[in-house]
Amino acid sequence: MFLWSVLVFVNLVSGTTGTNAGVKVRVTQKGLDYGRQFEMASIQQKLRAIQLKDMSGTERLLIGKVEYSITGMQIVNLGLPKSALGFVPDVGVMLSVANADIALRGNWKVKYFRFIKDSGSFDLTVSELSISSTIAVSGDGTGRPTVSMTSCAASVGSVKVKFHGGASWLYNLFDSFINKALRSALQKQICSLLPNSVADMNPFLKTLNVLSKVDQYAELEYSMVEPPVISNTMIELGLKGEFYKVGQHEEPPFSPRPFSLPSQDTNMLYMGVSAFSINSAGFVYHRAGALRLYITDDMIPSDSPYRLNTKTFEAFIPQIVKTHPGLMMKLLVETVKEPLITCEANNMTVQASSMVTAYAIQSSGTLSPLFVLNLEGSVSANIYVSGLKLAGHVTLNKIQTSLAKSYVGSFQVTSLDSIFTTVLKVTVIPKVNAHLQEGYPLPAIGKIQLQKSQVQVLKDYLLIGTDVQFTG
Ligand SMILES: *[C@@H]1O[C@H](CO)[C@@H](O)[C@H](O)[C@H]1NC(C)=O
Repeated sequence: MFLWSVLVFVNLVSGTTGTNAGVKVRVTQKGLDYGRQFEMASIQQKLRAIQLKDMSGTERLLIGKVEYSITGMQIVNLGLPKSALGFVPDVGVMLSVANADIALRGNWKVKYFRFIKDSGSFDLTVSELSISSTIAVSGDGTGRPTVSMTSCAASVGSVKVKFHGGASWLYNLFDSFINKALRSALQKQICSLLPNSVADMNPFLKTLNVLSKVDQYAELEYSMVEPPVISNTMIELGLKGEFYKVGQHEEPPFSPRPFSLPSQDTNMLYMGVSAFSINSAGFVYHRAGALRLYITDDMIPSDSPYRLNTKTFEAFIPQIVKTHPGLMMKLLVETVKEPLITCEANNMTVQASSMVTAYAIQSSGTLSPLFVLNLEGSVSANIYVSGLKLAGHVTLNKIQTSLAKSYVGSFQVTSLDSIFTTVLKVTVIPKVNAHLQEGYPLPAIGKIQLQKSQVQVLKDYLLIGTDVQFTG
């Protein structure tokens, strides 16, 4: 009972504090595997630059006291044949490198019996080198992810040396003293260089487009709203995913509902775009007055059965013949509240409540209002990925009209439905589609291309599965 109350309490607390994510981005093991090659290239570069300090010392051997020095050590080859990146739940990722080898070249010098000097070069091969390092993933305080190395261990398997010049007892000197010193110098060097290579990823992560301008009306925010969620199969970032009026971040009267992505792993990346995110766009555009359009006859294709003039309406509103004979018309279509987007499995529908004001254009150019209609329209949306954007295309399902006000007496408004359906299909819908085709930026990092992207409509969100390719 006590546990139960605690759980309920925890739930309440977490429900009231954090903002739910509007967009989620999940990286799978496949995505991690793709990223690994870039991290390995960076590590390769860093390790090749390892500088081993010259070493010198004095040792007492059978032949007496020997002074030695090892100088000019350089890495001539580095092999990293086997590496893996895996998830560490709640922490980040683990990098492991196995069976690596390093070939070094350097010079040796010895002095013994006070006056005998000898020198030459040597080749050294370090093999079965393994490295294991934990990289923590967290938020950087500006809404972007950041990585840092939290642990590193390197171990050298075997060291083989080939002396050029010199006597065989030099091997003993090497085996007993120099070998050990080199091992520990290498292990230290590797673990002191790795954090840099990990930190090199941060400028790249900083390129997350936390705020992207969409157009003159809207910008899209993608900052992280919660710490990354990391399991042993994926890492998931919860992003705000909200449209705002440019420069003015006012919250809409609705908020994101929690949602979770299905466990799919055939793509490198999955993104969930909630109905909330799309609805926030509707809110911004409606508020900005962007969802209104004047329709004139020249926008209607010449092969349309209807012209936008009072003659077209005569059959349905006979009074027009008397009051406004032979005039061209103009319509103003505008939303009266933000459109409502609903996502059900394989079905994304947008419901728009709008108002249509019909005017007759007098020969002087003056507009005389004829009537005002309430128009409820529903469209089906098809969403697709285009470049780094989410784009769409809508088709008109059905409209429902009712008369709000008439300046030309009463008439049967439903008889006009087919005219308005046709007019909307050839004017408003193509304009909406032209905008939707421009697309809306998806969250992205660095220069990437999305490949094999597919969009699925699920309950309350869109699921995008995609592979990525870095292009620069
Ligand atoms: C799609 O969803 C809308 C709104 O939820 C619903 O009215 C419509 O019937 C659905 N269409 C199909 C084909 O299921």
